[in-house]
Amino acid sequence: MNTQTLTPVLPASARIADSGHLEVGGCDMVDLARRFGTPAYVMDVAEMRSRARRFNDALAASGLEGTIKFASKACPIVAVAELFAGMGLGCDVTSGGELRIALRGGFAPETILFHGNAKSDEEIHEAVSGGVGLIAVDNAAEVERISAEAVKAGRTQELLLRLTPGVEGDTIAAISTGQADSKFGVSLEDAPAVIEAVAAADGLELVGLHVHIGSQLGDTGALARAAEVVAQFGSFPIVNLGGGLGVAYRSGDPDGDIEEFVAGAAAAAKANFGDGIRLMLEPGRALVATAGVTLYSVESVKRNVSNWVAVDGGISDNLRPLAYGAPYEALVADRPGAEATLECKVAGKHCESGDVIVREAVLPDPVPGDTIAVPVTGAYGHSMSSNYNGALRPPVIFVENGEATEVVRRETWDDLLARELGGQGRA
Ligand code: LLP
Repeated sequence: MNTQTLTPVLPASARIADSGHLEVGGCDMVDLARRFGTPAYVMDVAEMRSRARRFNDALAASGLEGTIKFASKACPIVAVAELFAGMGLGCDVTSGGELRIALRGGFAPETILFHGNAKSDEEIHEAVSGGVGLIAVDNAAEVERISAEAVKAGRTQELLLRLTPGVEGDTIAAISTGQADSKFGVSLEDAPAVIEAVAAADGLELVGLHVHIGSQLGDTGALARAAEVVAQFGSFPIVNLGGGLGVAYRSGDPDGDIEEFVAGAAAAAKANFGDGIRLMLEPGRALVATAGVTLYSVESVKRNVSNWVAVDGGISDNLRPLAYGAPYEALVADRPGAEATLECKVAGKHCESGDVIVREAVLPDPVPGDTIAVPVTGAYGHSMSSNYNGALRPPVIFVENGEATEVVRRETWDDLLARELGGQGRA
């Protein structure tokens, strides 16, 4: 076996196979690209399982009761839901669509937490009548609407109150949510009135407080400040300190530590709400990002001021570089152990100059037909994918112990045209 080291941001199972190709989950990535086509999202099952287990174990080690709720927006796929539901996690959903995926994936309704700053009547109805365990109240006007549905369904709906703690996380503005001027949650000023409104409403019970500071956070400093701020509203059985643990996208980037994050959140919960508090956390990215590797095929290589390596995907399968300037690494899956000398940009195929997947790549002489692997694409890639430029959204392939299973198929041309009704005779 080739013992050359690979970038540490690949899943733990990654190695260089005897063929010289990149292997993940025991599967040869070049073979996989040929078998399923490209672009394709590959997800390493052992990596997801191991990270979920680490969250569960860390929570158990904290001595607090509680649950880890998978923030499904990071990767809303039935097979992923099945995996995490089977491990005893709960699920955070934020729309009727995510609710359906969670239920199809086997999450028991009572383990589901329904979020949203603009819940529709239909969503409130589906959540309440479907027996969802918790709804996070985001604004005063929602209280009456949820109460009416609870009365209709003849049940008591338990609620969390999502608060805007006025605390900023150390992350970029687009994914920061805890600041006072946020579209999410009830302001500290309005919180007492909403708490009273819930107490006065029929069919509702407020069982906890919720804060989510933001995403791609390095530590729990901001969470702890937020817990301190919201503790002024008294003690409820549950405190949910949100998600947000970050991951390293490139070798050398700071990497969020699951055990430290959970221990930090637990310490903040205990300090502000006492040892009897039930702690809820809702990580998304930290559960799935590192399991993902996107495979592309090189279509062209050219040089002007830069070297441009163009592949058959781009912002339709990974919006993050364009939306957040998010950095990634790339490697040539055909020869990950070869000396990489070509400084280049890995560009997508879309009609926008900003469609560059990796701005600073160093690759071993890529040529058309090579398979490019981009690690750490398991979160917010598939979920934010689109049909831009008529692209077909890629399949999702689970890999484990040398077996590859397609869990989401590639879109077809028929799928692309399925909603088109035409001009119905209009000239
Ligand atoms: N809970 C709430 C209420 C959230 O809004 C979010 C993420 C999470 C939990 C999970 O956060 P995570 O653990 O994944 O950081 N599209 C962006 C990320 C947006 C996050 C939105 N809310 C990205 O690709 O970086």
